[in-house]
Amino acid sequence: MERIVTLDEFIIKTQQDFPGSSGSLTRILRDIGIAAKIVNREVNMAGLVNILGRADSSNASGEDVQKLDIFANEVMIDCLKNGGECAGVASEELENVIAFDPVEGQTAEYLVLMDPLDGSSNIDVNVSVGTIFGIYKRESDTNKKVAEKEFLQRGSALVAAGYVLYGTSTMLVYTTGNGVNGFTLDPSIGEFCLSHRNMKMPASGNYYSVNQGYYLKFDLEMRRYIDHCSDLNLRLRYIGSMVSDIHRIMFQGGIFLYPNTRKYPAGKLRLVYEGNPMSFIVEQAGGKALNTKLERILDVEVKELHQRTTIIMGSSDMVNDLQEFVERYSAINS
Ligand code: AHG
Ligand code: MN
Ligand code: MN
Repeated sequence: MERIVTLDEFIIKTQQDFPGSSGSLTRILRDIGIAAKIVNREVNMAGLVNILGRADSSNASGEDVQKLDIFANEVMIDCLKNGGECAGVASEELENVIAFDPVEGQTAEYLVLMDPLDGSSNIDVNVSVGTIFGIYKRESDTNKKVAEKEFLQRGSALVAAGYVLYGTSTMLVYTTGNGVNGFTLDPSIGEFCLSHRNMKMPASGNYYSVNQGYYLKFDLEMRRYIDHCSDLNLRLRYIGSMVSDIHRIMFQGGIFLYPNTRKYPAGKLRLVYEGNPMSFIVEQAGGKALNTKLERILDVEVKELHQRTTIIMGSSDMVNDLQEFVERYSAINS
């Protein structure tokens, strides 16, 4: 039997591959691993909330029961705050960034941006949800409290990104720009164990993933591409949690689309919390990630924290194919 490698062991070991590294990034990744276990426990309990008497807005001690996305947000913040390596966080759940107070003897070199619970509409029906995170290095003086503009870095500046999938099993998948590795939570020992080393996405696949209910609200070129997928007898899979939908594609190949609609002319998903971290992971696995203007998502300028983006990501050959459709049909349209 192969020896088990835990997430903690793996991140410490890979840190040694970067001589001179301070270990701060390693500690942040470990903190996120701890947060993921706590969120996992709570996600697992979600169905029991009613019978445990925590269904209403307050629990037995009269405290307010939080929605899981708010809970996940707070757990992530708490786990990152105390270490002293993270200068602050930006979250889909918060209007403004949180700047942490410095911890004595620590230099806070990093920033974390996150979607603490992705696909939250799935919770009540016991379907998979996720957590997405991206980590940047601070660009300015680490002695000063972090300001919002420091969070507005392009995706190409990410030093690490990952997601946690609370699925049939719980997985944490992350990259530091040197390939993608996946860890499965072994509940019997409470550890994430290396289960998928150097994950590579197939160059093509049999799945497409899009909310086809919005078909008539998509632009012509997107509708033509979806027709093409259907002509090819590709299988449509749409969970409604980006983490889960992309996770399938990581293994089986395919394409995920969230184009502009009439309701969301700039796309629905958020660039810094969802688009950039997932693009970094997808690219590191050999896939591609563009917006519907065919720009590489990681190169897009970030103008505001809650900026939205359209998304085309997945297997490289399929994204290239879609690119041809967009070029062909936009030319006809103009
Ligand atoms: P969140 O739960 O963080 O708001 O994200 C939900 C997102 C994403 O995960 C998913 O792909 C998409 O919204 C689903 O949107 P539609 O219901 O419009 O298809
Ligand atoms: Mn989300
Ligand atoms: Mn969310």
